[in-house]
Amino acid sequence: MLCVKQHQAKIVAVRAMAQDTWAVKVHAPELASAITPGQFFMIRPATGSDPLLGRPFALYDIVRDSAGQPSGVEFGFVKVGKMTTLMSQWSEGEEVSIWGPLGNGFPVPECRHLICVAGGIGQTPFLGVIREALGLESYGISPRSITTRPQQVSLCYGVRSARYLAGLEEFTIPGLDLQIATDDGTTGHHGYVTQLLQAKLAQNSEGVHVYCCGPEPMMKAVAEICKAAAVPCWLSLETPMACGFGACFSCVTKVVEPDGSWDYRRTCVEGPVFRAEQLVL
Ligand SMILES: Cc1cc2nc3c(=O)[nH]c(=O)nc-3n(C[C@H](O)[C@H](O)[C@H](O)COP(=O)(O)OP(=O)(O)OC[C@H]3O[C@@H](n4cnc5c(N)ncnc54)[C@H](O)[C@@H]3O)c2cc1C
Ligand code: FES
Repeated sequence: MLCVKQHQAKIVAVRAMAQDTWAVKVHAPELASAITPGQFFMIRPATGSDPLLGRPFALYDIVRDSAGQPSGVEFGFVKVGKMTTLMSQWSEGEEVSIWGPLGNGFPVPECRHLICVAGGIGQTPFLGVIREALGLESYGISPRSITTRPQQVSLCYGVRSARYLAGLEEFTIPGLDLQIATDDGTTGHHGYVTQLLQAKLAQNSEGVHVYCCGPEPMMKAVAEICKAAAVPCWLSLETPMACGFGACFSCVTKVVEPDGSWDYRRTCVEGPVFRAEQLVL
């Protein structure tokens, strides 16, 4: 049975992460105890009716209190429209309405080499994925166990320009192979993040799983690269959503059925993470 809780919660911290990009911590112990990497929540101001609908944001990481108990969630966002402009002015103490955990999240990584491929603000789900894969954090009411922990974990992270790189301090993790690409060459590889993935797969694609989140054209390219290399790939979609829990059908995406026909699936409940070959991109 679907069990989505709506919480009235307070913002405990806001910080700038990069150009037009902020991270917000919300005090929400129940949500923090239950959410897993790749899942998301919906958030809106606690009062007022404009904007009326909440907006979906992926878990960046959980926050723990001094006793080590989950006390809140942190998420990162880039300013693109009405709600995110309003959110960029939020400050500590602000009341918000938040509901979740929502969606399926990424599967537990059981492979030799996990490669996360992020484009722009698509990096947000990967902090939790990576920390869990490296055994640095556990998530969920009954922490997910990993029988075969990846021997290698990589993050290929692409942005337009160095000033959009968000969370490099958090992603500087012992054991993580972090590769950066910028479209304008201001730092890291000068070119697309997909070229970093191609280079890694050319070295050794045996036992590799790829998790990807970012703009649709980038995810389509990643899916094609993985298909050509016969590497399993999961994509996290950022489909606009109105309710987040399956009631409104505003978030449907096309999927391929086993018999080759296609149908629609609600991204909020059956996603946002899908196997790449399921999707009609
Ligand atoms: C599961 C999930 C997780 C997400 N996680 C994050 C996250 O961690 N950080 C983050 O910054 N964003 C994330 N997003 C995207 C985020 O929800 C949107 O950026 C946000 O809803 C925009 O709200 P707004 O009111 O500011 O923009 P609006 O005023 O609603 O829209 C402004 C413009 O952006 C376009 N737009 C709005 N939403 C999207 C979208 N999802 N994809 C493409 N174009 C869009 C609109 O068409 C419009 O042109 C996630 C989306 C989903 C579905
Ligand atoms: S957002 Fe309402 S059904 Fe998915």
